[in-house]
Amino acid sequence: MKENFINTGIKDFGVILNPKKCKYLKTQIEKLRGYHKNIFYKSFKEYKKSGRIFNTSPGLKTHNLIYTHNLDLKFIDESFKFKNALSSIMGNEFRIIKRSVIMHVPLKLIPRWVKDKVKNIGRANLNPWIKDEYQDVQYFSHLDFHQDMSKAISGYDKFATFSINLDKVTAKDGPIQILENSQILGRTFYPHFVRQSAHEDNIWYYSNLEGDHIKSKNRIVTGPAGKVCGFHGLVLHGTSFNQSSKPRVSLRYLVSSKKSQFKKTIWGKSFKKIKGSIKGLSDLHARLDINKDGSYKDTGMSIR
Ligand SMILES: [Fe+2]
Repeated sequence: MKENFINTGIKDFGVILNPKKCKYLKTQIEKLRGYHKNIFYKSFKEYKKSGRIFNTSPGLKTHNLIYTHNLDLKFIDESFKFKNALSSIMGNEFRIIKRSVIMHVPLKLIPRWVKDKVKNIGRANLNPWIKDEYQDVQYFSHLDFHQDMSKAISGYDKFATFSINLDKVTAKDGPIQILENSQILGRTFYPHFVRQSAHEDNIWYYSNLEGDHIKSKNRIVTGPAGKVCGFHGLVLHGTSFNQSSKPRVSLRYLVSSKKSQFKKTIWGKSFKKIKGSIKGLSDLHARLDINKDGSYKDTGMSIR
């Protein structure tokens, strides 16, 4: 555990949660939100009639499976090791600002009309195409390299993401990929300017388009149930296709520091290393892949 979050923007805590309880939680989630094609609208026509493009992701406390079905997360939230992990970066008075269930859907299980819709989109959020009653879970097909901290959540403009494996994640399941030390360039607009080395698959170059280029190692977060990985809100990360036959189910916690502790924490100190702008981008410019009406532009994707 000698990893330096301030430099890399990542900390892999290993298996710190009870794997059996994680797997049991996954079966509970699947009982409520078993994946099947009927969760989607039947066609684009039906979507046009009943669907919407805005506000389709789980909310902070409403429209969120964790709260609407009272999922028991005590074994996580009250776990000594988990609290220690969060405290080690965010300070002991950390704030969990959002919890959500994530479902990374294999490409082959997505209805054809939806597949066509998201084919050339970089960040393929599937929730707009899913019926309202199932949108309390976050579904996606693939996510190009992006930053989570692109807008403030619940008044917090700085937060880190902690991802929890509820089951074993292998290279086939579309694991999270994280570009080490990419937070250094600060907040940049999406699509981010990243290019893969022509010779080494795990090496990427990232530019802020202002003359700064950094070399980054791509970290692939595979591992068993109960594993927790934390990463900086400005670190570039994403996932390629899930090539298995089952959705990858995980939990995502967005965590912030208490303002009075911020400066003393590893989290607060990590911002001193950041060369680029932390604020700066207006909503309009943070994501260049979104049209005025909220629909997505085809941008292709860089992650592989
Ligand atoms: Fe993300």
